Amino acid sequence: MVTVPEDLPPDQEYDGVLARYYDAYFTGLEGEESYYRTLALNAEGPVLELGCGSGRTLIPIAQAGVSVVGVERSQQMLALARSNVRHLPDGVAREIELLAGDMRSFDLGREFALITLPYRTFQHLLTIEDQHLALERICAHLRPGGLLALNVFDPLMDIAQLLTSPDPAEPAIDGEFQDEGRQIRARYLRGYDPAQQWMVQHFWFDEIDGDRVLDTRQARLTLRYAFRFEMEHLLQNHGLLIKSVHGGFDGEQYAGWGEQVWVARKP
Ligand SMILES: C[S@@+](CC[C@H](N)C(=O)[O-])C[C@H]1O[C@@H](n2cnc3c(N)ncnc32)[C@H](O)[C@@H]1O
Repeated sequence: MVTVPEDLPPDQEYDGVLARYYDAYFTGLEGEESYYRTLALNAEGPVLELGCGSGRTLIPIAQAGVSVVGVERSQQMLALARSNVRHLPDGVAREIELLAGDMRSFDLGREFALITLPYRTFQHLLTIEDQHLALERICAHLRPGGLLALNVFDPLMDIAQLLTSPDPAEPAIDGEFQDEGRQIRARYLRGYDPAQQWMVQHFWFDEIDGDRVLDTRQARLTLRYAFRFEMEHLLQNHGLLIKSVHGGFDGEQYAGWGEQVWVARKP
């Protein structure tokens, strides 16, 4: 068995195994795709998605007939998005513009009716400074009355369980998928650095043949978590008005942990 470790710096974490397995493994959160599509349809103007990855949530917006720009830092994820867009009918592909860029420093010189950061992308901003830089850029690209929509995962319950569990945590098996005819089993384990408010997700992707493991590739994602009122302060600090926070994409009440789904408006 060959084990392929992967320990890329946080700003390159998507540039290896994760880009390769992204579309098969990272299938998104329940209700997320239709949530952002509905927001886009109601936005009455172009949409910008920051950290658009392979286009998973951006393509349905274009399929609904709304113009959408995607900004992405990882060259490999951007290549994946471009390849996914190439397979779309011309009329849909025409609605999509994909750009290389960093959400902390991009400048497109235009304003949008809606800016989205689906699938916890805001959590890739690992410091307060990065969060402020991105929010400043977001506000500069929102038209008056425009909306910012994003979700972050609040791991309070996870951390509480870890602190009270007597056993060291074991990686959890997280399903199987196919990659170029190979059967891949995913495992993951979350670790925490509470001083930095970082959640570090370790992934193991085992290529399997029945009970035999032929090969294992590893990857890691470093995410900053934020509690409810921290998010509220951050958004308000940039002059945004909080429209709603929910515990899911179907209007669920926020319970105090888990998914936080935020919508804020530029006055
Ligand atoms: C969790 S994925 C989400 C991708 C896509 N939005 C989706 O819902 O499937 C986060 C994406 O954000 C990108 N990203 C992380 N930090 C970024 C930054 N500073 N600027 C632009 N993109 C960034 C990553 O490369 C990755 O593709």
